[in-house]
Amino acid sequence: MLVHVPNLLSAEQLAHIRGVLAGTAWVDGRATAGAQSAETKNNLQVPEDSPAARALGEIILGALGQNEAFMSASLARRVFPPLFNRYDPGMAFGAHIDNAIRMVKPSLGTGAPIRVRTDMSATLFLTDPADYDGGELVIEDTFGIHKAKFPAGDLVLYSATSRHHVTEITRGSRWASFFWIQSMVRDEAARGMLLELDTAIQGLRKQVGDSEQVVSLTGLYHNLVRRWAET
Ligand code: NI
Repeated sequence: MLVHVPNLLSAEQLAHIRGVLAGTAWVDGRATAGAQSAETKNNLQVPEDSPAARALGEIILGALGQNEAFMSASLARRVFPPLFNRYDPGMAFGAHIDNAIRMVKPSLGTGAPIRVRTDMSATLFLTDPADYDGGELVIEDTFGIHKAKFPAGDLVLYSATSRHHVTEITRGSRWASFFWIQSMVRDEAARGMLLELDTAIQGLRKQVGDSEQVVSLTGLYHNLVRRWAET
């Protein structure tokens, strides 16, 4: 599953985030990589506990909470505090699968550490595609290979079970935020069907309004969520 969410951020939010990131210190991205992915990872990141990054992460979390396409596709239960990375010329990230469980450090959340099961991975593009060459996010899933390189402010959501890599940057600099989502619906196939059903119902509502059948299908959607969701 690959879902493109356009315009998650407004132009003002994007400008603010880019401005803050321009003034922050970047460190080696291997700081958050697992042992296997550290061998192929070559990029820069803002440190996980940087107060500036945490404040920017809050803006992104706020935008996610108000975005219907994100909520429908993810049925998010927990979102890992957004991280920020940067690829300059010569940098890339080889093929890997993200770690299954991520710990949110107590200093980043409230009280005890929180575990996030990474059901979905997300990349939020912060640089316009015209400003860099290379740097495509390439995702391999059961339906083949997908390449993602979207406008600044757009989000791509994909199954964290997929193998993926970022191709080498040959010009410019690619900035992004990345994070993971634990879904209320763990089963990927069930989550995909709920997204398809919800999308069809929303389309139908626009065509025919709240007809008796639309009300019935909406009820069916909620009853399936009730059956499958863990909260
Ligand atoms: Ni990854």
